[in-house]
Amino acid sequence: MRKPIIAGNWKMNKTPEEAVTLIEELKPLVDDAEAEVVVCVPFTDIVAVRDAVRGTNIGLGAQNMEWRDSGAYTGEVSADMLKALGVEYVIIGHSERREYYNETDEAVNKKVLKALEKGLTPIVCVGEKLEEREDGVTDEVVRRQTKLALKDVPAEDVSKVVIAYEPIWAIGTGKTATSEDANNTIKVIREAVREVKGDQPAEEIRIQYGGSMNPKNASELMKMSDIDGGLIGGASLKADDFSKVVHHK
Ligand code: 13P
Repeated sequence: MRKPIIAGNWKMNKTPEEAVTLIEELKPLVDDAEAEVVVCVPFTDIVAVRDAVRGTNIGLGAQNMEWRDSGAYTGEVSADMLKALGVEYVIIGHSERREYYNETDEAVNKKVLKALEKGLTPIVCVGEKLEEREDGVTDEVVRRQTKLALKDVPAEDVSKVVIAYEPIWAIGTGKTATSEDANNTIKVIREAVREVKGDQPAEEIRIQYGGSMNPKNASELMKMSDIDGGLIGGASLKADDFSKVVHHK
């Protein structure tokens, strides 16, 4: 059985003070969650959120990292730096990073390998653009992104990776993939994992849906056979909304 994982991606929102307020509101609302609960916060909130979630069931994640260990890389943050602050998860290859910061499949792969080497759980994002969907190449796009992201990852480490399927046209738009469409594409991703890593990794890897997931649509999405959780943007910024997605009943 794959344990569902619901992760908030706060993106570029919340000062440390605002972050602590949100976590304090969230704690009692999710302390009985069946799902694994994670918040992926801006670098500048990590210390404050680490202290606020200590002793709770809320996991701490970052939204990006550099794959090199150290050196002259102005503005970047390494896996060791995240680990030293108590970070456990890191989003890799979010479509906003691929689009605005030219993050390539190769860089995504290097980051995944580094995260695993350092004991961080990578949450790797894949998903098609609107034009790609309209051109009927969604399956090819997610298969390619998945296989390249997992290149050189040993089969026994694949279950430590989380994949987030985020159709780009659904992010922040209020449009969601239908639960059937999302589930079908997630099955395609799982089959791509099977092709390159084998049956057991394909059955064990958790694949989330992301893109305008909210308290209203979470339960329908989470009922689907292959959807193992959510990566939540907008709806993770309010404790009440996020907790409803976490409980999704
Ligand atoms: P929204 O939930 O705001 O659409 O964002 C999804 C997302 O990009 C999570 O990483």
